[in-house]
Amino acid sequence: MKRIQFVFVIFIIATATIISCNDKRHPGRVYMPDMAYSRAYEAYAPYDELAKEGINYKNYPVEGTIRRGDLFPYTGTNDSSGYNRSASVKNPLPPLDSLGLNEAQRLFSINCAICHGPNMDAQGPIADKIGAVANLKIKPKLELPEGTIFHVMTYGKNNMGSYASQLNRKQRWMIVQYIKSEQAKEIAKSAVTPATSGADTTGAKK
Ligand code: HEC
Repeated sequence: MKRIQFVFVIFIIATATIISCNDKRHPGRVYMPDMAYSRAYEAYAPYDELAKEGINYKNYPVEGTIRRGDLFPYTGTNDSSGYNRSASVKNPLPPLDSLGLNEAQRLFSINCAICHGPNMDAQGPIADKIGAVANLKIKPKLELPEGTIFHVMTYGKNNMGSYASQLNRKQRWMIVQYIKSEQAKEIAKSAVTPATSGADTTGAKK
């Protein structure tokens, strides 16, 4: 008799345990709901409804914030005063290593060489069709400030379109460095030439 009572009690306890565990919708007291249940939002739920539940999720980055690893936005305006002021904007990137310069050259070849030519001398395959393409290897473009090159790539200029949607800020500043490094070689070359011809003046003038 005692044994039957014992089995009965065990049976009651087991049933109660199973039933109590089964009700997932009302799990009783939860001490740390944020850990037990994700506060994840329903995809595409209207955010004003989520806000009622205390979830402030708007799909957009918070105003005034910058994506991790991204550069500061360029605030120069797309007009002549923005163009003039761009001359004082400094390149935010540290000097590129040879790998970085190779990548910048690749980007230049893809996006710019079609007009400016691989040597930046305005001999690109469609330069004639576009017309008035700037030769970046002669003065005054040879001395164009970095910020102005960035400005022109960002907004375009006359026959040249904007490259802001094709190249992100970092890529544009990389190309700026590549152009400046090629221009520096050109300046160094022309600095050598007058010196040689200067030495030549001691001899007979041809
Ligand atoms: C569709 C042809 C075309 C392409 C592609 C092009 N450009 Fe130009 N670019 C021009 C023309 C035309 C001008 C002359 C604009 C003017 O001053 O009227 C110019 C001018 C420039 C100047 C001189 C700006 C100044 O202030 O005088 C720079 C620097 C320049 N381009 C850089 C680039 C770079 C970098 C790229 C690639 C991201 C590029 N361009 C792609 C046509 C092009």
